[in-house]
Amino acid sequence: MAAAGGTAVRAMGNDALIVKWNKFSKAYSAVMEQWSWPSYASLVSATGLPVLDGSGLASWKHLDAAKAPSSSGKRPPLVLDVGCGPGSHSLELARMHPGLRILATDLSEGMIELARSRAAGVDNIAFAVASADSEEVAARGLATVAAGSVLAGEHVSDPMSEALRVPGGEGALLADAAIANLVMQIVPDTLAAFQGVGASLRPGAPFAFAVWGDRSRSALFTALPGALRSLEIPGLEAMQAEVAEAAATTRSGFHLEADVPRVKRLLAEAGFGPVSTWTTELPMPGGPVLSAQDGAARLIDLIPANSELAARVHKEGGDEARAALIRALEGRVQALMDEDAVLGLHVRVYVAAKRG
Ligand SMILES: C[S@@+](CC[C@H](N)C(=O)[O-])C[C@H]1O[C@@H](n2cnc3c(N)ncnc32)[C@H](O)[C@@H]1O
Repeated sequence: MAAAGGTAVRAMGNDALIVKWNKFSKAYSAVMEQWSWPSYASLVSATGLPVLDGSGLASWKHLDAAKAPSSSGKRPPLVLDVGCGPGSHSLELARMHPGLRILATDLSEGMIELARSRAAGVDNIAFAVASADSEEVAARGLATVAAGSVLAGEHVSDPMSEALRVPGGEGALLADAAIANLVMQIVPDTLAAFQGVGASLRPGAPFAFAVWGDRSRSALFTALPGALRSLEIPGLEAMQAEVAEAAATTRSGFHLEADVPRVKRLLAEAGFGPVSTWTTELPMPGGPVLSAQDGAARLIDLIPANSELAARVHKEGGDEARAALIRALEGRVQALMDEDAVLGLHVRVYVAAKRG
């Protein structure tokens, strides 16, 4: 696979992704989930669902039926959440809109276990372990495959059991909207994932997803590896080469941000109609950055992949290498602050409707 700009990119396989995300599940839930909510909320809003509970915007069922038809006209609307992580966002949506049914899926058992452990008392949601891009999912639809696994298991409430059965018992389960927040850029087979979502939606239903954006504007994940690559300390060369290689392999879908025409072609191939797209930014977790030292420390402490990398530099290069890494990182953070660049993640959003 080649990314826009010609960089050779190899996808990390699903087995490696499962290990990685199982390992990160607790740390992700502790820090990153809070931080990624604004992006999730913007996707909810882009589907046409209200993102605020309360007086004026109580629930989807109170909206004009023509704006939010459900698949059968009678059943409560079903929302498919792809790559839901530890589940807080999906649970928030379920609590906010008791009239909805949410089917939330993730490749990682660790993520789904955490999500289920938080779902006590919320009966309009079900969680399923399912890869977004398997051959079966592309052919039968993610909703149908995930619903089958939920109905065969022990974790299903009565409202969900009803919502996940195909009316009449035949064909695919069709949802009324699909959301995938910060997931599609990791999924190795983008077309299969789009097809799996496409086969899960009724005609006209929206699919809103956000992907990691421009690396040069995503300091959260690139500033520390960049600082490491800039060091000239004997003994670190192998790690530096490995980090450069990892940047090209683990985030296999960065082209989804840069190559909009290709994404539109893939969406069209998967049965989606006109596509709207725009970019936005997520800031550094934990509030305003007070200084280069503060920014650098938080980049290391809050992002699991960065903490691991800094610990490894310390282990392999000692105190001196760690101090040099921090100085280089602080220099990068200061330069970004001087440019008024956000020290977070650049994000691209896509919204498309399933063609009739
Ligand atoms: C960056 S997290 C986003 C989690 C959540 N959507 C949020 O907004 O915080 C990416 C999630 O995608 C999941 N994931 C990775 N590859 C996947 C795949 N092939 N199919 C489904 N989920 C996948 C990971 O386990 C992880 O939970």
